[in-house]
Amino acid sequence: TRRATALGTGHYLPARIVPNSEFEATLDTSDEWIRARSGIARRRFAAEGETTSDLALHAARAALGNAGLTADDIDGVIVATSTPDLTFPSVATMVQADLGMTHGFAFDVQAVCAGFVYALATANAMIVSGQAERLLLIGAETFSRIMDWSDRSTCVLFGDGAGALVLGATEGTGTNADRGILSVDLNSDGRYRDMLYVDGGVSTTGEAGKLRMQGNALFRQAIEKLAATAETALAKVGLSGPDVDWIVPHQANIRIIQGTAKKLGLSMDRVIVTVQDHGNTSAASIPLALSVGVAEGRIREGDLLLSEAIGGGLAWGAVVLRW
Ligand code: ACO
Repeated sequence: TRRATALGTGHYLPARIVPNSEFEATLDTSDEWIRARSGIARRRFAAEGETTSDLALHAARAALGNAGLTADDIDGVIVATSTPDLTFPSVATMVQADLGMTHGFAFDVQAVCAGFVYALATANAMIVSGQAERLLLIGAETFSRIMDWSDRSTCVLFGDGAGALVLGATEGTGTNADRGILSVDLNSDGRYRDMLYVDGGVSTTGEAGKLRMQGNALFRQAIEKLAATAETALAKVGLSGPDVDWIVPHQANIRIIQGTAKKLGLSMDRVIVTVQDHGNTSAASIPLALSVGVAEGRIREGDLLLSEAIGGGLAWGAVVLRW
């Protein structure tokens, strides 16, 4: 069977580390509250002038290096982001140019925090159908640019960063027999638009806008929908929670991650957790966690991985892949 298989990962975080204590000076909040309610201890913020495509390019180079490939080997670039440098062109074409690629194609996918799951689903379909041999997938965000710094219920939760993954076609023989993306489940329901949105945009205010979130209502939706999509994706290939070696979840909140793992019957030592160091980096959080898990030697070839995410839309989904 032809499958889309991981060839390499990489990530990039902006240099500036912002501990929770920095918010105590300007907001009625505390390190204790933020840690207890979200699991976040620190996050990174991009420097002035440092853009989403800058972060994406660093992560892309790291992933290509990890895969032992160059841009010449890649047929296309897909970037998952909701915080592009410009309204257009896409971040993906900026990265393509910066990599010196003049062949192939590049485009962005926008499904907010579920963006990387949607990018994986898209890339998988292109590779399995024979439209591409090797694709460079990047999740990259600068959510610090859409924060309302006077809203303590949102601005302490998000961070900036980028992660990348190179996927390539394998024919499912020999040592690769079992590897690759095995299953995908995507969902959205636009009736939930007010639960998480940005209050500006090109055809409304003409400004980028700020993130608005009904955190508590979203929290209640998240665990239920994440566990359901994860179980659906696993069941499509005859698997269930206990078969999973690593959950590599979207990193929004430690309590959502714990609640979802529990529903799937998995203990937290089977979950890659980075939210304490990165905060919620939206579409970047899954490839960041993948890259960290691989770099730390925890995720190994042959491991069964489950990634799930939910975000604005609402849009949510899950991917099952054997590393
Ligand atoms: N410091 C101190 N107090 C705070 C802070 C803060 N930073 N933020 C909120 N509070 C207060 C609230 O004002 C509220 O006070 P009140 O009771 O006097 O009104 C109290 O804390 C409790 O607020 P809740 O919203 O009920 O707190 P909750 O336990 O739900 O935690 C949180 C809030 C962390 C936002 C949680 O709801 C959550 O994680 N929600 C999901 C978020 C999420 O996953 N978002 C991203 C999706 S991905 C994407 O697409 C971007």
